[in-house]
Amino acid sequence: MNSAADLRWPFAVRPLTPKLGAEILGVRLEEGVADDVFRAIYQAFLQYQVLLFPPQPLPPGRQVAFARQFGEVQIHVMNQYHADGFPELYRLSNLDEHGKPNGRHPDRGTLEWHTDGSWSRVTGQATLIYGEVVAGTGGETHFCDMYGAYDRLEPAWKARIADLRAVHNLDFSRTRRHGEDPMTEEQRRAKPPVDHPVVRTHPETGRKCLYLGDHAEYIVGMPYDQGRALIEELNALAIHPDLTYEHRWQPNEFIVWDNRCLLHRATAYDPATQGRVVRRCTVLGEVPV
Ligand SMILES: [Fe+2]
Repeated sequence: MNSAADLRWPFAVRPLTPKLGAEILGVRLEEGVADDVFRAIYQAFLQYQVLLFPPQPLPPGRQVAFARQFGEVQIHVMNQYHADGFPELYRLSNLDEHGKPNGRHPDRGTLEWHTDGSWSRVTGQATLIYGEVVAGTGGETHFCDMYGAYDRLEPAWKARIADLRAVHNLDFSRTRRHGEDPMTEEQRRAKPPVDHPVVRTHPETGRKCLYLGDHAEYIVGMPYDQGRALIEELNALAIHPDLTYEHRWQPNEFIVWDNRCLLHRATAYDPATQGRVVRRCTVLGEVPV
């Protein structure tokens, strides 16, 4: 494990748990990130899976510029969430035009364990999220390590799922969980269901991870109900408290995580009394194998 004094890094690194997550200290993102510093951040991202940057100003344009250093940034199909003049940014807010909580959760699908962009052929690599307004109670973000989740499966489970593929479908997960603000026909056409391996190999670390979450609908070649039951069982088996980092937000914190080897969720808050505004973008990765 690295300590804050580890001289391999051009910044201080403070691990958040024994297994995953690290705080990166001493990087002022607003000023732009030099290539050599970015390379080190990227190594830390691969090693720790979740990076937390302490409270600091990060204007929308700087957030998008930093995301572009990771790769091509997703333009989310749900264009009603686009923000600040950047189609790459996606804002989740429950504030009305007067800045008061409006009582409506902006996307209750985020309350279930999932991985961003698994409903696309090219799935999410990094997600970068900035907390503009944080809830006093609830509204946490939790992360669970899917390398560890795979490693802990019984050998019989590993053999059973080795060659399975799951169909991921944004319309399924969104409609099933809340049915609010359903996808338009055009949005559905733009993002038809896609299949991915249930066990993927991380393209950079070479490690196997479980790759399901709440967007996974059914298993290719298996009766629908049987596939649903298998996905539900594996999604529950995947979560281990000691492989989880639970983040309680401070205003203006910034978090980057690797969707290829994590599931994440937000926890509930009272949208009638608590304000919560986050803006995020997701970088496109690759077609999982
Ligand atoms: Fe998410």
